[in-house]
Amino acid sequence: MPAGKPVIEAKDVFRAFIARADHGKRYPILALQDANLAIEKGEFVSFVGPSGCGKSTLLNMVAGIFQPTAGEILYKGKPVTAINTDVGYMTQDDNLLPWRTLRDNVEVALEFQGMPAAQRHERAAEYIAKVGLCGFENHYPHELSGGMRKRCALVRTLIYEPDIILMDEPFGPLDAQTRVILQDELLKLWDGTGKTIVFVTHDLVEAIALSDRIVLFSRAPGRIKQIYKVPLSRPRDVFHIHAEPEFPAFFDQLWRDLKEEITEVELRAK
Ligand SMILES: Nc1ncnc2c1ncn2[C@@H]1O[C@H](COP(=O)(O)OP(=O)(O)OP(=O)(O)O)[C@@H](O)[C@H]1O
Ligand SMILES: [Mg+2]
Repeated sequence: MPAGKPVIEAKDVFRAFIARADHGKRYPILALQDANLAIEKGEFVSFVGPSGCGKSTLLNMVAGIFQPTAGEILYKGKPVTAINTDVGYMTQDDNLLPWRTLRDNVEVALEFQGMPAAQRHERAAEYIAKVGLCGFENHYPHELSGGMRKRCALVRTLIYEPDIILMDEPFGPLDAQTRVILQDELLKLWDGTGKTIVFVTHDLVEAIALSDRIVLFSRAPGRIKQIYKVPLSRPRDVFHIHAEPEFPAFFDQLWRDLKEEITEVELRAK
């Protein structure tokens, strides 16, 4: 893990929301409490925890979409008080623009940056090839499979080379096989770039396969319960991660700690 000053820091962060009950009555919800976390440049960190424990809330504050109710989020030592343009955010919903082709979706951020068309097309072609989507450039999102859409959303985020990449359950709805293939592609795209990735997942095996560290949140109102260093070396073979000698004991420990935070109802659904 690279040493140095953290690129992202959460210091004593609380975030509350005002929710609406029947008849327009308002009541407060504490989404996240007392979160402290420091992420180094180049780290791959995953957030795991029960539903509603504040994982997306913390990502949104790192992106600068909203601010903490108390405490601070720092990016390179400075408080994040507006949208952080050094951040690329791959949200749970892929948000591809249905009226644009795959190529035009991939290029959208470069277009906003004012990059000339020829240069844009060249960069897009390079990224589209990296994820094996050559030949589909002129397809519209509804003409792509779920895995292809995720690949498109992934390269659309990576193409403008943000320093920090936030990924909120990016492979959630995919079948197990496509998921592992995309995990492998993500690690290959990330390897050697020095980019920092913060990744949210409900899948402990995915978190172990990808991450340097894993942050476990408690049940709502969420707090950071434990931070683990993943005891596996790199490069990782995501297809055979279960076969790594350190895997079983680490997985069991994580699952034991997570299970304490999951309600009986959620456990029955797993
Ligand atoms: N904009 C908002 N307005 C009101 N309440 C919100 C808002 N955003 C989040 N919350 C509430 O904050 C809590 C934490 O939500 P958050 O989306 O961070 O959970 P999460 O850990 O990402 O859950 P999941 O795993 O289900 O995605 C929830 O109770 C949620 O209803
Ligand atoms: Mg979420």
